[in-house]
Amino acid sequence: MLTLESVDIAGKRVVIRVDLNVPLADGQVANDERIRATLPTIQYCLDREAEVVLVSHLGRPQSRVDPRFSLQPVSQHLSQLFERKVRLVVDWQDEFLNDPSNENEGVVSGRISLIENIRFDPREEQNDSSLGSELARVGDIYVMDAFGTAHRAHASTSAAIQCASLACAGPLLAQELESLERVMLDPKRPLIAVVGGAKISGKLEALVRLSEVADTILVGGGMANTFLLAKGNPVGRSLVEEDLTDMAVSIMERTDVPLPIDAMTCTEIAIEKVATLRSVNEVRDTDTISDIGPRTARDYAARLQHAQTIVWNGPMGVFEFDQFGEGTRVVGEAIATSSAYTLAGGGDTIAAMENYGLKRSMSYVSTGGGAFLAVLEGKELPSVRALKVHSHQHSQA
Ligand code: 3PG
Repeated sequence: MLTLESVDIAGKRVVIRVDLNVPLADGQVANDERIRATLPTIQYCLDREAEVVLVSHLGRPQSRVDPRFSLQPVSQHLSQLFERKVRLVVDWQDEFLNDPSNENEGVVSGRISLIENIRFDPREEQNDSSLGSELARVGDIYVMDAFGTAHRAHASTSAAIQCASLACAGPLLAQELESLERVMLDPKRPLIAVVGGAKISGKLEALVRLSEVADTILVGGGMANTFLLAKGNPVGRSLVEEDLTDMAVSIMERTDVPLPIDAMTCTEIAIEKVATLRSVNEVRDTDTISDIGPRTARDYAARLQHAQTIVWNGPMGVFEFDQFGEGTRVVGEAIATSSAYTLAGGGDTIAAMENYGLKRSMSYVSTGGGAFLAVLEGKELPSVRALKVHSHQHSQA
């Protein structure tokens, strides 16, 4: 893939597809990690006297203009971070493509514009090449840097790359892919995958792929219940996917999956409920397993000490409730303090790391949720495919 570093952007207008899909609260950005992750790419372009036009989506506005999903708060936040105005451009085609006065035709070095939520245009999610072509024509170079949205074949993440005369991968996208390749393609061994979360079904393909590459998979969260049931353990009223027990068995046959020994249970998930510790073979009919137990957490932590590479996706329990957060905290701390290469990703995993102050200690934290999982599943991301085809055509030209 062509990368931003390999193309000449000096004095050019650079269109960058970024992922500024951040949570808002009271009309303000509630968490700016994703915005901050894009800053080095934007700064790189500004340092080369380029003009920057940013493209992003925010939320899922159902293909129509909806003020609740305006990028206005994000443009304000970017303005504060850069200490210069970041303009929100609503009628971007008028401004960049059909301006009869030609006033805005020339490149304005150092200017940063943010195009209003690209999902307001119904053509975006249809991967419509007319929108792709319009986006590509806004600038001289189209940079795909939105790793978090690279698993969507949309006009701004796929068609625009195909339509651009010059398109390349941005540094964030490249860095994310490198981190995942380091784990999935050429890991230092042992590679331990820590996989949690509510259900196996949402992570089935990732588990199957990980069972092919990881030396050990440590399971937690609701999905561990299906593994426990497959081994004949009682799971009471816990979340469980009985139709996937065969799949759990085949994953256990392919790689080492040491199961939980004990669990924190309750009779109903509610803040006021007291957690009861049980051995996994003593879970009662009325129990709901809500976290791994302390012996399991210690066992997992001890195993993690021997890892050279660790990938983590999904909490070990319902950590939103303190009494069911210890498993995630102990395992998360074992990952964070390990000398292994550690890669973590996914919305819940990031929330858990923030909760326990673990983020800064990881080797790499992905900005992707669905995109991170898609790579763990072994899928080629549509944006990456489009960039590879574009780069190939470019090298032949
Ligand atoms: C994300 O938050 O995972 C990305 O921004 C993609 O958003 P989407 O799931 O609405 O496509």
